[in-house]
Amino acid sequence: MNDLNHSRILVIGGAGFIGSHIIDQLTQEGVREIVVLDDFVRGTRENLAEAVKDERVTLVEGSMTDRDLLAELMEGTDYVFLLAALWLYECVHEPRKAIDVNVVGTWNVIEAAHAAGVKKVVYSSSASVYGDAAFTPMTEDHPFNNRTMYGATKIAGEQFFRAVYEQHGMPYVGLRYMNVYGPRMDYEGTYVSVIMKVLDKIRDGEAPVIFGDGSQAYDFVHVTDVARANILAMKSDAADVNLNVGTGVKTTIKELVDALLDITGTDLEPDYRPQEQMFVTHRVGSTELSTELTGFEWSIPYREGLESVVAWRHEREQAAAG
Ligand SMILES: NC(=O)c1ccc[n+]([C@@H]2O[C@H](COP(=O)([O-])OP(=O)(O)OC[C@H]3O[C@@H](n4cnc5c(N)ncnc54)[C@H](O)[C@@H]3O)[C@@H](O)[C@H]2O)c1
Repeated sequence: MNDLNHSRILVIGGAGFIGSHIIDQLTQEGVREIVVLDDFVRGTRENLAEAVKDERVTLVEGSMTDRDLLAELMEGTDYVFLLAALWLYECVHEPRKAIDVNVVGTWNVIEAAHAAGVKKVVYSSSASVYGDAAFTPMTEDHPFNNRTMYGATKIAGEQFFRAVYEQHGMPYVGLRYMNVYGPRMDYEGTYVSVIMKVLDKIRDGEAPVIFGDGSQAYDFVHVTDVARANILAMKSDAADVNLNVGTGVKTTIKELVDALLDITGTDLEPDYRPQEQMFVTHRVGSTELSTELTGFEWSIPYREGLESVVAWRHEREQAAAG
């Protein structure tokens, strides 16, 4: 077991959605110092508004493409959480930038962590590496059916960590998140999730759109659980392994929309439209290996999780209204 007490922890991409929840949970631990590195391409200071009240938390604005800065921040660091990455659609539209950040940036982190003698890195991979599900629930030995640039960069990251483990023995765990949702998920940017699109429609009094028959199923896992999975992965003796982080439960888009209509108390009916674009569907991850190796068990069912999103949006909208 890795003892986080009195340790210095670097969280790269810590101002983002998942990273900020990890930091909130780390402040509940006996750590000595939490350093957040983020270049704010997507993350916000607002996400860390509570956390920075804790004097152990320091926020550094900068990029993991800056090797000198990484070397400086890694000095004396015990543990690193690596979350920074460009997203699926950014990787589609700006593949070179995706390579610079997700591939070269990840390599920079590995190199700097190794040079500084970091004890362990927990790397944010993605269930995207699996692509279309050949079988469900997908176990970690499911083939890489990925066909996207984003997934390609995540596979590259996993492979770099493995190669460095082989050569130098630097412990790491890669986490392949399923569909993460919860408070602080992006809903103003260009690439917002289906949950936020449905809630936008409901707010505007319009019927939420479902493409196809709504039978597409996903494994929705709440961000609080995902943050806890990260901390358990760090504390555990697990190393040189990539683990699913999900619930293993299939939730269809129809179920999701119905739950949101119900929670918000609206009598709108979904607007079914022909499916325009084929997305990867029916991706549900096996939870067995991560439970066995890290003790992680998900705890928030989707209905309760969606309520937390609705409440958070409500709070933000109230605050914005003055
Ligand atoms: N949210 C999901 O459903 C999901 C699913 C699978 C995998 N992931 C992965 O988990 C990780 C965290 O995801 P998230 O949802 O919190 O995303 P996010 O975009 O909210 O967080 C990533 C953070 O990294 C920062 N960042 C980007 N480039 C940087 C750079 N060069 N240097 C420093 N900081 C940089 C961003 O500003 C942002 O704050 C990502 O690697 C993502 O690919 C997320």
